Amino acid sequence: MKTKLGPQRLILPFPTVLVVTGNMEKANIVTIAWISMLSGSPLTLGISVGQKSFTGEKIKENKDFTVNIATVEIMDEADFCGITSGRNTDKFEISGLTKIPSSYIQSPIIKECPINFECKLVEANIVGRTNHFIGEILETHVDTEKIEDANNKGSISIEAINPLIYFSGVREYRKLGDKAGDAYKTGKKLIG
Ligand SMILES: Cc1cc2nc3c(=O)[nH]c(=O)nc-3n(C[C@H](O)[C@H](O)[C@H](O)COP(=O)(O)O)c2cc1C
Repeated sequence: MKTKLGPQRLILPFPTVLVVTGNMEKANIVTIAWISMLSGSPLTLGISVGQKSFTGEKIKENKDFTVNIATVEIMDEADFCGITSGRNTDKFEISGLTKIPSSYIQSPIIKECPINFECKLVEANIVGRTNHFIGEILETHVDTEKIEDANNKGSISIEAINPLIYFSGVREYRKLGDKAGDAYKTGKKLIG
């Protein structure tokens, strides 16, 4: 049996990312769960940002932003950035998170986040009452010690990253669980 719930946000799970826009002198952080990779070439991602948020105005003005992967270690800081507004709060100062200059854009990255993407705004749309911003990824930064094999830059240690997972329906943060299998491989047993 199935229960119909009507339109819901029950995508499970969401990542928790911190989006920064501004410059090294003045920048704002916002917590975002609605994020998706959009295209491989050029490499783009999309974020949904409420029209009332300070971040929406600033991204349109600055034309760039960074996406920083939040971890369990900075859960309180990440939550804080999602319940306060840059309109009246200096979130970098209060959270103690550290700005580092980006290589190609004005908006800084966050030192305490192990993976950071520099994004140039390439498209801004309005979907319903939400801004949908498309950013082209110009650079990716990863904490060097979290790369397992120096010859394979994609070999990130998921345990070392310890990403903060968000469950929208119950408004809970969780940690990642154990590995369940190998993607693009485990289904092969069903191919005749
Ligand atoms: C876990 C979590 C996830 C969130 N995800 C989003 C999101 O995807 N899009 C959005 O617009 N707001 C999201 N928010 C709410 C914003 O972070 C919040 O409105 C914030 O105060 C806006 O800050 P600003 O005014 O400085 O831009 C989320 C908040 C939390 C705590």
